[in-house]
Amino acid sequence: MEFFLDTASLDQIQHYQGLGLVDGVTTNPALLAKEGRDPLGQLREIASIVTGPVSAEVVTTDPERMIRDAQKLAGVAENIVVKIPASTAGLAAAYQLQKQKVPLIITLNFHAAQTVPFIKLEVDYVAVFIGRTEDFGIDNKQLAWDTRLAIDNMQSRTQLMAASIRNPDYLIDAISANVDVITVPPECWKKVYKNPIFELAEREFLESWQQLPEDLRRAYETLDDTISSQS
Ligand code: E4P
Repeated sequence: MEFFLDTASLDQIQHYQGLGLVDGVTTNPALLAKEGRDPLGQLREIASIVTGPVSAEVVTTDPERMIRDAQKLAGVAENIVVKIPASTAGLAAAYQLQKQKVPLIITLNFHAAQTVPFIKLEVDYVAVFIGRTEDFGIDNKQLAWDTRLAIDNMQSRTQLMAASIRNPDYLIDAISANVDVITVPPECWKKVYKNPIFELAEREFLESWQQLPEDLRRAYETLDDTISSQS
């Protein structure tokens, strides 16, 4: 299972690369706009520091323009994968782009049925949006399971990507559904480690340790020095 970072921030990408959590990067128009810089330049920079796939989304609903934009975006760097929306227009574009071997992620899937024609086409990835429906009070955790089944039953080489991961529970749900890739926003990784019970337990352990007299703690705290002086 691979973990992509769902961001267009160079700082965040570099930070999470240092934690081994950047097998690839997903961007979208909203994420690029958030950076407030030239989006093409930003994409080039991201693609140059990431060895895995980097997604770039088309910004039109017209299929002919999607095809032209996708061809151009794919030329920005070797590891660019073009994001196409899961619409009828997107399907028309994907059908042509697939023949041209342009690497594709089909995005904005909110129902497994949306992914079916793209799975049949054997595009590289379909991204299912697990979290966003929660904004409307709709629990969409089943989506990843349904799409996994569709891919397996259709014996397609399309990879399943879990997207719109808003919290740690969604991360675990995606793993349970045996997706191929999870694209995780930095905010979600922060929530994973912003656990008050963990913080309390860690603090208690360290405070208890300080109760031990300093001369008794010393050997344990300088373990490396002790071992090297004995050898
Ligand atoms: C995925 O590739 C998308 O960029 C992302 O997961 C969108 O999620 P959102 O619902 O947080 O915007």
